[in-house]
Amino acid sequence: MSVEVASPNKLPSDFLWGFATASFQIEGSTDADGRGKSIWDDFAKLPGKTLDGRDGDVATDSYKRWKEDLDLLVEYGVKSYRFSIAWSRIIPLGGRNDPVNEAGIQFYSNLIDALLERGIVPFVTLYHWDLPQALYDRYQGWLNREIIDDFVNYAKICFERFGDRVKYWLTMNEPWCISVLGHGRGVFAPGRSSDRTRSPEGDSSTEPWIVGHNVILAHAYAVKLYREQFKAAQHGTIGITLNGDWALPYDDSPENIAAAQHALDVAIGWFADPIYLGYYPDYMKTMLGDRLPSFTPEDLAVVKGSSDFYGMNTYTTNLCKAGGDDEFQGKAEYTFTRPDGSQLGTQAHCAWLQDYPEGFRQLLNYLWKRYKKPIYVTENGFAVKDEDAMPLEQALADHDRVQYFKGNTEAILAARNEDGVDIKAYFAWSLLDNFEWADGYVTRFGLTYVDYETQKRFPKDSGKFVSKWFKEHVAEETEKTKAEDPKRLELPPSANKFQTDSATSSPTLESAESSSKAAIAKRKKKTKKAPFARFTAYISTFLGI
Ligand code: BGC
Repeated sequence: MSVEVASPNKLPSDFLWGFATASFQIEGSTDADGRGKSIWDDFAKLPGKTLDGRDGDVATDSYKRWKEDLDLLVEYGVKSYRFSIAWSRIIPLGGRNDPVNEAGIQFYSNLIDALLERGIVPFVTLYHWDLPQALYDRYQGWLNREIIDDFVNYAKICFERFGDRVKYWLTMNEPWCISVLGHGRGVFAPGRSSDRTRSPEGDSSTEPWIVGHNVILAHAYAVKLYREQFKAAQHGTIGITLNGDWALPYDDSPENIAAAQHALDVAIGWFADPIYLGYYPDYMKTMLGDRLPSFTPEDLAVVKGSSDFYGMNTYTTNLCKAGGDDEFQGKAEYTFTRPDGSQLGTQAHCAWLQDYPEGFRQLLNYLWKRYKKPIYVTENGFAVKDEDAMPLEQALADHDRVQYFKGNTEAILAARNEDGVDIKAYFAWSLLDNFEWADGYVTRFGLTYVDYETQKRFPKDSGKFVSKWFKEHVAEETEKTKAEDPKRLELPPSANKFQTDSATSSPTLESAESSSKAAIAKRKKKTKKAPFARFTAYISTFLGI
């Protein structure tokens, strides 16, 4: 065992949990306060790019309703909230010589302050797919190495302006999706592909691998900057988050066992192997030959070890069969149908997702053994089949999503306490139903229902379940740690759960909290009481939890 287990049924008191969102999926207000366009703005408006023909101009209107969203987070009693910053709100044209937009900075600054005032830890993604359109127009965005310096400059501004209060940073969300869905299959912005029915330009045999390489480098150089110029003063932790689903061999034939590993090599190893181990997977080198870019020794020195933790987004498990020519799946074919004809799990609204908690546990074990880094689960979620067509009450009783979270929360407990996997955080996707990229608004991933006519939010059973589960399974502070915490009286209730963690290179939550508090106070320059009364009211009235 490599983790301390106080009780088999509990997670440690410093375990972070909450809900995740992303800027373009929730904010709307795409032309407010000087925001520049992102590559999703116009792409979503092109005929046939989203299932329902709808775009992100309004989404869940969270740019305007962010306080309402925070009320919801307080109701759920979360410890942390993962959200992303829209690059084009901070630098509307994106580049290192382009002007900075103070109004955009102010928006996120207010959000961060308001989270901390409510005792909620901000967990911030710098890039969740909304590249400034101007950078795509200027040099084709991720296809050009130029982007590395522009991303690092954007990251620097975020560290400078928010890093006094933000202690958890994710550079990139899901490089595989940026590379393959945006530049290979052409289903996500900028929509490049060799398939000319989809896109007038693009080369799916080369571009995704170039994009992936540049994403890795931009991530790594941003981390280098953070570690060299900010970490000592700000005490934050920084990493990347990768998508990746567990791969099971379809049966015990050697070729299908190999196919499952090949699927993992491309889904996960493509990014994780260079970042944690220092090389691209051999299978990818063989499969791609000179189409796979290589690292210069100088770049490699920056890439290897460039993530403080393993950021894990995962949704499902695939049964893998050898065959086919889909390089993006490692030339494996995916199915959910077992050899005996039965299904792996419950089918979600989207074809690629079935519920299979055993796979989640196995993936946690695989990542821990292979990469040996503490794991932050930064996304995990389920879209109930046909939920969009259901009357409100039926949608709120989201049984299949509750089952999904039941299975996966139990898997976390088992993986940590029985298998010894060091898991430090869990974020359910998503706080709200929202703009589900190419699916438009038809596929709902929220633990909170959004009525898009009125923008009213309604907690689903799954939201209540997750909230209750973590409340029951995250250990309370002990009297000793309470007594040792000098900040206790001035922190709101959920923040009081944070403890010093000397075992890892993570920031100590206690020190992160105290320095964040001090930073807010300093910035506001006025003494202002945190709205504790509001918290207490929310927490105690919320659904009897
Ligand atoms: C992405 C989210 C997306 C979710 C569900 C993840 O790949 O990070 O933005 O909404 O999956 O499809």
